[in-house]
Amino acid sequence: MEHDSSTRIVQDLTVLISTSDPGARLPSTRALVARYGASPVTVQKALRELTRRGLIESRPGTGTFVRITRTARPADYGWQTAALRTPMAAAIDVSATMRTVSNDHIALHAGYPDRELLPERLVRSALTRAARSDAAFARPPVSGLPELQAWFASELADATPSGLTPPAASDVTVLPGSQSGLSSVFRALVGPRQPVLLESPTYWGAISAAAQAGADVVPVPSGRQGPDPRDVARAFDETGARAFYAQPNFANPTGAQWSREAAGEILEIVRARSAFLIEDDWAHDFGIDTDATPLAAQDAHGHVVYLRSLTKSVSPSIRVAGIIARGPARERIRNDRAAESMYVSGVLQRAALDVVTQPGWGTHLRHLRHSLRARRDLLVSSLREHASDAHVDGIPRGGLNLWVRLPDGVDLRRLVRDCEADGLIIASGDEWYPAEPEGPRIRLNYSGPNPAAFADAARILGARLSE
Ligand SMILES: Cc1ncc(COP(=O)(O)O)c(C=O)c1O
Repeated sequence: MEHDSSTRIVQDLTVLISTSDPGARLPSTRALVARYGASPVTVQKALRELTRRGLIESRPGTGTFVRITRTARPADYGWQTAALRTPMAAAIDVSATMRTVSNDHIALHAGYPDRELLPERLVRSALTRAARSDAAFARPPVSGLPELQAWFASELADATPSGLTPPAASDVTVLPGSQSGLSSVFRALVGPRQPVLLESPTYWGAISAAAQAGADVVPVPSGRQGPDPRDVARAFDETGARAFYAQPNFANPTGAQWSREAAGEILEIVRARSAFLIEDDWAHDFGIDTDATPLAAQDAHGHVVYLRSLTKSVSPSIRVAGIIARGPARERIRNDRAAESMYVSGVLQRAALDVVTQPGWGTHLRHLRHSLRARRDLLVSSLREHASDAHVDGIPRGGLNLWVRLPDGVDLRRLVRDCEADGLIIASGDEWYPAEPEGPRIRLNYSGPNPAAFADAARILGARLSE
């Protein structure tokens, strides 16, 4: 009975509301009780239902009102076109390598190693200790925790030949990952409309950071052996550039490691032109057949600005890297960091330092080397067996990727889409070129999840390539 009365009240008031102006006041509860001859409980129930339907709103102490309806009109952002003007940097989308995909897919596109390759036990206990330490509450210095600065400096000092002055802890600035270090370097040492040399192909994140800083990117061809020193010299001389971003060890994507001779020559070219070499040692912990040998260790006069990241080898969630620069360049970079983010979370710095100073870290890196070798070799042999049109340009001696040349004429976009339809995610090589690619390539990462599926991956790729 009570239910029927409240439904009747709801229906009647809905008609009233539909003919009232938004914001109009409804009769008081007492008036509604009298009007419908119902109990206050029944009237309240009807009002609750109308509120639920979004038709009325009650304002405590004032009364109940017909709701002001806000019609959902599409927003007009047209004014932003005039306010923003033309972008300084060409728009570069977030890389396809950053896509997260479901476990049903075989994922060879991403850049970060699978969890089974991370030092999980060390990371968990380091985070627990860091959370209990004073670092959880203190503000660390702009340049980083002194102990972590000292660790980055001593790692590079260990590789420095006697007779050269090793870097000091004070030369290190701790970063929230090396990506933001790249942005700082291009802003602080290059600047808008100034030329900067980049290997081609090279890491897509460096291309977009340089573009975002407004720098003019000058590609220098680079292959399995790294760049030809004569091309580097020519590019410096033709453009007047004062900086060269490069990855002398296990380059992403080519896997190239510069020979000792080429490295020496390029360092000399840089010195002779009073320029900087921005050395990205992203794969320092991913040596397989050999170790990474930082070029920065050969430099005592501040020509090499050295980036060393821990995010890929410790944990993507412990986003910590270091940049080592000497002289005024160090101050320029540090000032840029202070303007950008002021300091890096002390908890993350403490945890990163904890992981890399545990005895278990060395053991972990030895296991990692074996795992990477097994994965790399499995992917190479799977491609040879099932995808003979996918040509691996030499086996990388470290790093996480195979750089694969495809036959001329392959439509990369279509191949990537077709492989995805078959459950395989691959990265189109085009993203790694600052200018036009010299041919169709893909990058295959062998450090992702489920290496047992590499043979299936190669079968899918091979089948699609032979279509
Ligand atoms: C060559 C290279 N440099 C830098 C980075 C960025 O690393 P981080 O995670 O330290 O920002 C990456 C990540 O893929 C990379 O491949």
